[in-house]
Amino acid sequence: MTGQRTDRCPPTVDWVDGAVVLLDQTALPEAERYVRCGDWPRVARAIADLEVRGAPAIGVAAAYGLALAAEQSTAESVDDLLADFEEAAAALVATRPTAVNLAWAVEEVRSAALVPGGSPDDVRRAIADCARRLAAEDLATCRAIGDAGAPLLAGVDEVITHCNAGALATAGYGTALGVVRSAHSDNPGLHVWADETRPVLQGARLTAFELGRDGIACTVIADGAAASVLSEGRVGAAIVGADRIAANGDVANKIGTYGLAVSARHHGVPFYVAAPLSTIDPATPDGSAIVIEQRPAEEVAAYRGSAITPPGAGVHNPAFDVTPADLVDAIVTEVGVLRAPYGPAIAAALGG
Ligand code: MRU
Repeated sequence: MTGQRTDRCPPTVDWVDGAVVLLDQTALPEAERYVRCGDWPRVARAIADLEVRGAPAIGVAAAYGLALAAEQSTAESVDDLLADFEEAAAALVATRPTAVNLAWAVEEVRSAALVPGGSPDDVRRAIADCARRLAAEDLATCRAIGDAGAPLLAGVDEVITHCNAGALATAGYGTALGVVRSAHSDNPGLHVWADETRPVLQGARLTAFELGRDGIACTVIADGAAASVLSEGRVGAAIVGADRIAANGDVANKIGTYGLAVSARHHGVPFYVAAPLSTIDPATPDGSAIVIEQRPAEEVAAYRGSAITPPGAGVHNPAFDVTPADLVDAIVTEVGVLRAPYGPAIAAALGG
């Protein structure tokens, strides 16, 4: 699966002249600047610091980070090369524990690194080829998600989303925003309400940026305004991405997603999740088993370097929450739209 980008968003993750080049998402929308990661620890730092973020994008970044680790390893035997690989893999996976695409991508590269009878250089090539393949496949997967989900938005003129599950969060096109993009090509009047997404404003800074690039109408609201907007009766659907989907269909996504799902159900608005199969973790039986990443207190207690809470105020900063499967009206994947009961639907999608 490969394909050309059709969105107008700048590239998020790339491999250029032996380095991983990332669009610095902490600088958007003010500045479009790129970070050149010359070694895998720099890639790990970029993932931890949200210079690259969004579950599929950090998976691709980690895969390229492993390609860097292999290329720069001075090992002369395959065993020594794989030991260097495992050191980088462990550090990259530890950067963000909730998004399963990260561990999934590392596992894909680990499998590709098994080259029976191969030399260290054969293993290096196999790792680099796998990283490039994952990037290409992610773009194609997002296009397929978009096209599978667009019929859900037929007849819908207003949609609400949370965080950024767009081109910036993937190798291009996006998951939830991929569905929006595909629906927008049928209905150019489609309008998106974007929750600003506290504390680091992925909705206000990133979703509004990339939808603006593609000429898709977007209005940013404070997260606390979502219920009120839904109560006005104009919004026809809510659609979000996911960081990990448990085997029973419980969905971990950006903090605030659960509240949006509760509000949507209260107001009779369908709540959809769009994600690649690589976001589904069959080894996690339900949402209670999902590890929720805790982020630094400063993300809540300060805004752009200035304190916004009094000294000594407690801060709790989970990056994600879990929306129970019974609040999810459909899960859109690259192999089609899954409906409850999600256990068997997910098992069939993964088995097929
Ligand atoms: O902390 P972030 O910005 O990486 O969180 C991103 C999200 O929650 C996205 O909705 C999710 O990763 C899906 S991206 C296609």
